[in-house]
Amino acid sequence: MFTLETCEGEIRIQENSKMLYSSGGTVWSSSPVLCKYFEKHRRKMKIGKNTKCLELGAGCGLIGIFMAKIGCRVVITDQEVVLPTLEKNINSNLDKSEVDIQVRELSWGNEEQITGIIKKETSFDIIYGSDIVFNVNMVDPLLETINKLSSTRTLIFICYEIRDPDAHKYFLERVPEHHYDIKEIPMSKHHQDCSDERVLLYQLNKIDLE
Ligand SMILES: C[S@@+](CC[C@H](N)C(=O)[O-])C[C@H]1O[C@@H](n2cnc3c(N)ncnc32)[C@H](O)[C@@H]1O
Repeated sequence: MFTLETCEGEIRIQENSKMLYSSGGTVWSSSPVLCKYFEKHRRKMKIGKNTKCLELGAGCGLIGIFMAKIGCRVVITDQEVVLPTLEKNINSNLDKSEVDIQVRELSWGNEEQITGIIKKETSFDIIYGSDIVFNVNMVDPLLETINKLSSTRTLIFICYEIRDPDAHKYFLERVPEHHYDIKEIPMSKHHQDCSDERVLLYQLNKIDLE
């Protein structure tokens, strides 16, 4: 059991070590860092009631559960194999009659799934993901997915520990080519109770090409 104390009480995540063919059964190191970053800056960033959030590669769902607890409207996504564990954690931490959280299957680059999400939500205020940069081949589908689901007003946060240096390097090269500005958020801005020098946090802004 992974637990995190937040301003909305404790979140308890049941990990699934038996999950095959996916890394989504574990809470990865950048997930609490990004969750606590949102907690720390939620007022300044005006995150709260009715903020429309999209989480990519949510795994066990820690961050999305927190965002729903503070009143956001959350679309929480991952690949199909991960969804039962994700649902279980949502159900054990949230009263669905009090929050707005939808679980959706989304494999990056899957046009049909992306279109399904666009049909329900035209644009998101925040798109984020933790530990989702780990494989060179996944970088372009990930950035294309973000591109289709964001606008120039969307705040985009990607947080990860470097697991594959090639994927990290390629991500930083490809972000501007997908027409985003990128800035690293220094550790001094992370939550003091939950910072980790191995974890990098980036904010991306879509460049207005018109
Ligand atoms: C390292 S885990 C991180 C999970 C969670 N965000 C965390 O930080 O604890 C990577 C996540 O990305 C998801 N993922 C991997 N490849 C994906 C793809 N092509 N499309 C969508 N999700 C993917 C996995 O299912 C997994 O949940």
